[in-house]
Amino acid sequence: MSKIDNIDVEALAKPLTYPTEAFLSKDYALAEKEKLWPHVWQMAARVEELPDVGDWMTYDICDESIIIVRTAPDTLRAFFNVCPHRGRQLVDVPKDVHSVRGKNRRSFVCGFHGWTFDTEGNNTYILDPQDWQGALNAECTRLSDVKIDIWGGWIWIHMDLNAEPLIDFLGDAGRILSHFEMDKMRYKWRKWVVYPANWKTALEAFMEPYHVAGTHTQLLDYGDYYAYSAAYGLHGVSGFDQRDPAFQMSQSSSVTRAGKGDDPRRSTYELIRENYETLNYAASTETLVNAASRLVDELPEGTAAGDVIAHWLKSAKADDAARGVIWPEIPPEVMAEAGLAWHVFPNMSVLQGITFALCYRTRPYGDDPDMCIFESYAIERFPEGEVPVTEWEETEATAEGWGAVLAQDFSNMEWVQKGMKSRGFRGPLPNPHQERKITNFHRNLATYMGTGAPRLLK
Ligand code: FES
Ligand SMILES: [Fe+2]
Repeated sequence: MSKIDNIDVEALAKPLTYPTEAFLSKDYALAEKEKLWPHVWQMAARVEELPDVGDWMTYDICDESIIIVRTAPDTLRAFFNVCPHRGRQLVDVPKDVHSVRGKNRRSFVCGFHGWTFDTEGNNTYILDPQDWQGALNAECTRLSDVKIDIWGGWIWIHMDLNAEPLIDFLGDAGRILSHFEMDKMRYKWRKWVVYPANWKTALEAFMEPYHVAGTHTQLLDYGDYYAYSAAYGLHGVSGFDQRDPAFQMSQSSSVTRAGKGDDPRRSTYELIRENYETLNYAASTETLVNAASRLVDELPEGTAAGDVIAHWLKSAKADDAARGVIWPEIPPEVMAEAGLAWHVFPNMSVLQGITFALCYRTRPYGDDPDMCIFESYAIERFPEGEVPVTEWEETEATAEGWGAVLAQDFSNMEWVQKGMKSRGFRGPLPNPHQERKITNFHRNLATYMGTGAPRLLK
């Protein structure tokens, strides 16, 4: 990893700026292939995508393609998708497919000369091996291994077999988010689209609630969106903040908080319902929305906001328990620290709740710094036997496809990408309190890339 002069984490509280090359430069995009992606843990898929032995799929990042296969009920393996003979991609991954996948796989046969590999990556067949005069061995004819691990119900890969353990890479983000037991959640829906913005431009559209007032104006009727943000090493968090500390409580930084208005029984319901319906039925659950709808009947007028939230969560928890969805017990101080949403370096965002999460991932699209693969999905805890069947759906970036709120985000990202190219743009001026997650992202990116470090505005 290249070392550069970089700001320390305390400086993130100060007014900063950083260059736009990370979003716009072709050279920077090419350099990411060497300096970034091979050196980070990457979330490749959900474990639920490969439930049975023999299930397999590809995960692609830039020029690299990786095959992930379930080799035993409790074992997944990953290999670079390349035949060691003359380098044919073992599984063809056409441009513009989300991933290639299948079931019941016992071996991979190369389409060029027929070399064959078992799901452990061992070579099991070579035509005319004697021609190599004994030079071939098991080592040089097997598939190249990729490091693989599981956390939070996600499959993670690292191209470097000597990489630090995943749990160390995740650090405090992993420690805090583990409480939400996301491994017990399952896909509710999953969508992807090739979108005209750099993968960082796209991801950063979901890193701060500072944009809610300007972008999702309709939500201001229901809640306040003042936010804090904080760095946790490589990763970062943001949460709703109170200008008045008297209103602070363990839930108030998360999505399950009181709404705005004189009657928190009504406003809490209105806030959660509006969020749920316009966020493509994510960032909450049916149970929470239904329990909120009853607040006005179950609580007397004048109930304080804190008591409304406590009652709401208690009754939603009981409703869920009755249908077999048992909530994890999350200590209040963890709930408070968990905030609203996490950036998991480099390209993942998770907005978490007790029984649900709304997640984003962005990846480069070829070598084009102006394009990305944008993915979003909702996961939720379902009763046994009620997990919906989902697939990756390629979905045009419209309100019909993604819901009104995401469409509003889409309506910025492309134009941020364009605007940043202007010679009239002097560089980003991120909010030192509310957009620290973003400056922390660039602080960390710079340590990998050797360029692009944030600097003090003055
Ligand atoms: S390239 Fe795979 S068998 Fe020749
Ligand atoms: Fe947004």
